[in-house]
Amino acid sequence: MKYAIITGASKGLGYSVAKLLLEKGIHVIGISRTEPDGLKKIAETSNVTFQQFQCDLGDVEEIETTFGKIKSQWGEGVSDLYLVNNAAVVEPVDQAMNMKSSDLAYHVKVNTIAPMVMTNLFLREAVSKGIRFIGSTVTSGAAERPVSGWSAYCSTKASINMYTETVAIEQDEKGTGNKVFAFSPGIMDTGMQEKIRSASPDEFSAVETFKSYKENKALKDTDTVGGVLVDILTDEANLENGKIYHVKDYLS
Ligand SMILES: NC(=O)c1ccc[n+]([C@@H]2O[C@H](COP(=O)([O-])OP(=O)(O)OC[C@H]3O[C@@H](n4cnc5c(N)ncnc54)[C@H](OP(=O)(O)O)[C@@H]3O)[C@@H](O)[C@H]2O)c1
Repeated sequence: MKYAIITGASKGLGYSVAKLLLEKGIHVIGISRTEPDGLKKIAETSNVTFQQFQCDLGDVEEIETTFGKIKSQWGEGVSDLYLVNNAAVVEPVDQAMNMKSSDLAYHVKVNTIAPMVMTNLFLREAVSKGIRFIGSTVTSGAAERPVSGWSAYCSTKASINMYTETVAIEQDEKGTGNKVFAFSPGIMDTGMQEKIRSASPDEFSAVETFKSYKENKALKDTDTVGGVLVDILTDEANLENGKIYHVKDYLS
């Protein structure tokens, strides 16, 4: 049996990825603070299961507890495990010098520490049980270029790219066959973009440009982008360990 664990499956890109994986006949476990609508129904019609675990990924103890619950219910027969570290936050969007320390700390916990902890725990579990593991984390173009007002977001997404490349060489050295990759999804029409558009020009100087992306319908829909991620994730033979995949190489 193939299982996928998706963080932030309640909305946006994570919801689309969960739906598409269920439709492919893969069991899905979602982890987020709120419950998604309709995924249980899609699972039923696809003869697989969808389970939701409520967890604040900004709290490492909650992640450990959630991992324990998931692992304790797994019987024999799990052959493949896909991990999609999708959940992230963009805020605080502001100039460095204006942010609250607690907001910065929470941002780093959700965007950097949670994907590392999730990968660490589930990779260990997979290796100990002989389950094939493919781990992915959603990154951003902001990992590769500085954006004024996004010092936290650019930094945490850059950390994801280096983490991915490092874990990949470890798995290669050990010859496990397990793979990890990062996926840069481009700009999509989600709640995260709404938050970006709500910033003031003092906080985020490019806010008008981002408003124009919405007005000019330049934001991609999450089902289209999610389809690219799911194709990469499930094409194990051609998956390049440690690669930072960019959606722009797949969609015009
Ligand atoms: N949208 C874009 O244009 C864009 C561009 C480049 C990269 N990305 C990346 O794409 C990924 C998906 O973004 P999106 O646009 O789909 O975002 P979104 O619509 O804001 O959805 C974010 C998801 O993450 C979950 N989440 C956030 N904080 C969480 C927390 N503390 N604990 C548990 N779950 C949490 C949310 O679930 P709950 O609220 O239910 O907890 C939600 O399901 C992110 O990694 C983002 O950085 C997005």
